[in-house]
Amino acid sequence: MNDILRIGALISGSGTNLQAIIDACAERRIDGELAFVGSDNPNATGLARAAKAGIATFTVDYATIIKHYKTAPELVLLPEDFDLNAVLSKQTLFASNFSSIKTNLFFMSRAIAEAQLLQHMRPYEYDLLVLAGFMRTLTPYFLDQVNTDPDLPRAMNIHPALLPAFRGSDGYGDTYRYGCKLGGCTVHFVDYGEDSGPIIGQKAFPISSEDTLETIKKKGLKLEWELYPECIQLYAQDRLRIVEREQTLKNGKTAKRAVVQILRKT
Ligand code: GRF
Repeated sequence: MNDILRIGALISGSGTNLQAIIDACAERRIDGELAFVGSDNPNATGLARAAKAGIATFTVDYATIIKHYKTAPELVLLPEDFDLNAVLSKQTLFASNFSSIKTNLFFMSRAIAEAQLLQHMRPYEYDLLVLAGFMRTLTPYFLDQVNTDPDLPRAMNIHPALLPAFRGSDGYGDTYRYGCKLGGCTVHFVDYGEDSGPIIGQKAFPISSEDTLETIKKKGLKLEWELYPECIQLYAQDRLRIVEREQTLKNGKTAKRAVVQILRKT
């Protein structure tokens, strides 16, 4: 890895996490710089934040791609290197009994969009890809082309809940509706599942009976803006390792999971 971490980012919306990362790079709280910012949404206001900071941007309009594929799949070419069976054998997003037509449609339409993302990303050298409010699930087709070093994942995400609780797109809403007394956010590496990758860092905040969904979101985002730069800096300092945690359970079975070990600062 270089002295300066080259960071690629994908966003979908307002990009306040992206802004926190841009600011942390400028203030040297991250020894890194942004190489590019991509979006699935042409109207993402975060794109303007990137442009203002002089960072190259691109858009892959997922909604239009998916619509075209659904209406006339015969007119759309799948990427040459896309192997549906290989993707299906790796994916953990859908149960194997889930309608195969729907599952296939999902992975084929996403591969078209992901091939375009990869094409846009290709000219840039990057050490780490951060998902900063990127509201699309990335599939094994894409991730295998990003996570090329088996020992060190290259894609990170921030999630608005204390994982493994409340995976999915509405972490703060789920936290509020469940009546949790603590809320929080999690930064994790991205694997083939939904918000299921090894956890790098978490921050929590108390929830009182005066809190509303709005105040929960506000408290959570404030912590996200601290947590994400801190986790990216750990990556820049090469202090993150994936280790296998294995334990024998009471029933004699073995539980195994890849977890993140944070090395001490040297
Ligand atoms: C954040 O809450 C993030 O955790 C979630 O989407 C939101 C994005 O906010 N994945 P922003 O675009 O960074 O402002």
